[in-house]
Formats: sequence, C-alpha cells, structure tokens
Amino acid sequence: MEKDKEKKVVTLAYGCQMSERDAETLTQITRQEGYTSSDDLLNADLVIINTCCVRESAENKILGKIGELKKLKEKNPNLKIAISGCMVQQPGALERLQKRAPHIDIWAGTHNLHDFSALLHQVEQGGKVAEVWQEPKMPLESTPQAEKGKLQANVNIMYGCNNFCSYCIVPHVRGRERSRKPEEIIQEITDLVSSGCREVTLLGQNVNSYGKEFSPVYDFADLLHDVDQIPNLLRIRFITSHPKDLSDKLIETVAGGNKLCEHFHLPIQSGSNFILERMNRKYTREYYLSRVNKIHEILPKASLTTDIIVGFPGESEIDFEQTLEIMNMIHYSHAFTFMYSKRSGTLAAEMEDQISLDVKKRRLQRLMSVQNVKSLAWREQMIGNTYEILVEGPSRTNPERLVGRTRGNELVVFNGPSELIGSLLNIRITEAGTWTLVGDIED
Ligand code: 5AD
Ligand code: SF4
Repeated sequence: MEKDKEKKVVTLAYGCQMSERDAETLTQITRQEGYTSSDDLLNADLVIINTCCVRESAENKILGKIGELKKLKEKNPNLKIAISGCMVQQPGALERLQKRAPHIDIWAGTHNLHDFSALLHQVEQGGKVAEVWQEPKMPLESTPQAEKGKLQANVNIMYGCNNFCSYCIVPHVRGRERSRKPEEIIQEITDLVSSGCREVTLLGQNVNSYGKEFSPVYDFADLLHDVDQIPNLLRIRFITSHPKDLSDKLIETVAGGNKLCEHFHLPIQSGSNFILERMNRKYTREYYLSRVNKIHEILPKASLTTDIIVGFPGESEIDFEQTLEIMNMIHYSHAFTFMYSKRSGTLAAEMEDQISLDVKKRRLQRLMSVQNVKSLAWREQMIGNTYEILVEGPSRTNPERLVGRTRGNELVVFNGPSELIGSLLNIRITEAGTWTLVGDIED
C-alpha cells in the first residue's frame, strides 16, 4: 500500500510577538499531529492564520489573505484552513467572519489554542468547527513551550492586560493579566538553552506588572534577576514596559545584570497630557520624562524605543506639536508610529471628536520625518565605537555577510565566517543608515 503522503502546514502570523509566539504554538501542535512546517502555500494540506486586530489595516490585510486562500481551496478542495487569534476573539466577530468566509474550516479564539488538535481532528473527519471561549478557562501551562533548537526564543511570562488604554482592543481579546510561575519560566528557558538557544525575549503586554498576584512578593525585577543566573544563556530581552509601572528596582536590576540587555521599549503614545489622560495611560509627559532621565542616570548607554499614535480623538495641532517636541527631546533609536484606528468596543471609538484620515496621514508623515532624522543621528553617534554583537546569521539582503544585534537591539551587518553564528563578538561600527549599521570585527 502506498505510504501516506507527508502532511504540510503553512502558518502565517500577523501582529505582535505574542501573535508570533501563538502561531509557533499552533505549529507545534500540528507537528504532534504528523504535519511538517512549510512555506509553500500551493502544496499545503493545512494553512493557519494567526490574526491581529490592533488596527484596521492589519484586519484588512488578513481579510485579503483569507480571500486569496479561497482561490487556493478551489484548486485544492482537500486544503484545510484555520483562522485563529485576536481577530476571531472580538465580540461579534465570529458570526461576521463566518458569513464572509464560508471556506474556512476552523475558527479558534485566543483562549482556545490548547484545544487545536481536537479541532483539527474534527475537521479531518469532515465538517467545520468554531471554538471561541469568552474567558481563559484553560490552565496557564496547557500549550507547548517555545520551540527548541533555535538561537532565539520568545517566552511568554504572562498573558492578557488590565490597563484598558482607551484606544486598545488587546484587553478585550486577550483577557485579564495572568502571570506564569517563575519556576515554569525558568525551567522552560533552561530547556531552551540546552537545545542551543542563546537569547530569550520575555513577553508580556506590560511586563512590569508581572507577578502582581504573587504572595510572597516576586516581581518582574526578581524574575529578571533569576533568569540572569541561567548558565550558557547569553542575552535576555523583554517587552513591553508600561511607563507607569517602570520601577527604579527594574532599572537597577538591568544595570546589575550580566545578560540583561540595556534596551527599554517604553511606549509613550502621545506627548500631550490632555491626550494621555483621554488615552487612560495613567502618566503625564513629565512623569514619562522623569522615567527616561532615571534610565539614563543609571544606564547612560541604554537604548530606548517607543510606540506613538497620531490622530487620537480630540488631538489638536497643539497636542500633536507636543508629541513632536517630546520626540525631539528624547533620543529614541527607533519609534513605531501609527495612525489612530477606531476599534469597536473600546472607549475611544465612542469619542465624538474623531480626526479625519487626511489629518492623521499628514501628522504621521511629519512624525516619521522627525524620527527618521533622529534614528539616523542615533546610529551616526555609534560610528567609531565598539559594541558587543550576538551573531544571528546571514544577512537577508546580502547572504555573503552576517548580521547580529547590539545589546541595544540595533542591527549590524559585517563580514565574517558562518562559524561565528551564535557567538558574541566585538564589532566596531564604520557606517550608519536609518535602519542598520555596518561594522568590522575587532581584533
Ligand atoms: N490605533 C492605532 N494604534 C494602536 N495601538 C494599539 N491600539 C491602537 C489603535 N487602536 C498601538 C499602540 C501600541 C501598539 C502595539 O499598537 O501604540 O503600543
Ligand atoms: Fe493595549 Fe494599553 Fe494593554 Fe498595551 S498596556 S496592550 S496599549 S491596553
């Protein structure tokens, strides 16, 4: 009898690192079911799209992809398609999506990933299935841990968010904050390191509120301190830090660590106190600046990155100018800039003074041109200095060369043999562009 053909799964992730991490979980579950990963859509038996709904532009991209898959399914009726994650989890979204895309076989919400193999079995028997729980009822440790055998891994330390920033859909689709136990996290990282991992990024919507529910007290700084002790791990990164919860203890822990990278992703969102208040961010621009000053005082060489939204409801030209002003004051190595996108179910979606698309576009352009100059200036001041790089692999644009990252998360391209991949090197920076640096290995 002919041997069963090997089943192939293509997984696509949209959105943030948590979405990528969830997509990895789903791929691992399908592997347990006999699938091998592939990026060849034309020969796939199963396609999984892990979705994002943080902005309308992400949703539109995903809807376009779902439409493309319809054509693929017409050519290959045996193809199974699964749509999972944040977009499916939005209140009322499932019915709308099912009507729009009847060719989809599996719909799974953010709280249903642990059950993916059961859903897969059901559709392999024929039929379609949808499972979207409103609450996270499964135990925290019920999905596979980060994939082993890679140089870098993303490790969830917590799930959900309690902050309810008024523009943000995340608390509505990922539920309330839940922290994993430190011993589970440390065991996962120890196992990853034994399989060759050298860098971990600890993931949470607001890592600074990690462990709030723990007694006796054990906070994010304590976790960082303990992860820093794991032998053979070379680097530890973490995202995202909410400015309102960034403690002196955390900054001091990073300063006192060995592998803790001096990089803070500290979203400011706006430079106007009026807008920050309406965003429910729970800090002022003065408080934010005092946190930045504290970081620079303790860690003068730390890199800072940020997220900024332009065109939040009620944002006047003066509010926007205050954002530009603060961008000029703070030396971010990179800023992720977004036009406000109305998300139904959030408080800001109900605010009356929505800003026109034209104004949002204009403000985004101005903001980006300011930041591009600043990012280049940040990189230019690195020229002539030497930085520790973790070598990641061949450069995508020129496979003859290698790429790695500084502790500050800046990308550096340089010449060197592939045996260096996975090791730490000192590189002297010789050239700077807006996005990347070029350097030479230091003797
Ligand atoms: N519109 C635009 N940007 C948003 N973000 C979150 N929600 C929205 C929205 N409705 C941005 C914030 C956040 C980042 C991950 O996405 O800047 O920090
Ligand atoms: Fe959204 Fe605010 Fe939570 Fe970040 S902290 S996920 S922006 S609600």
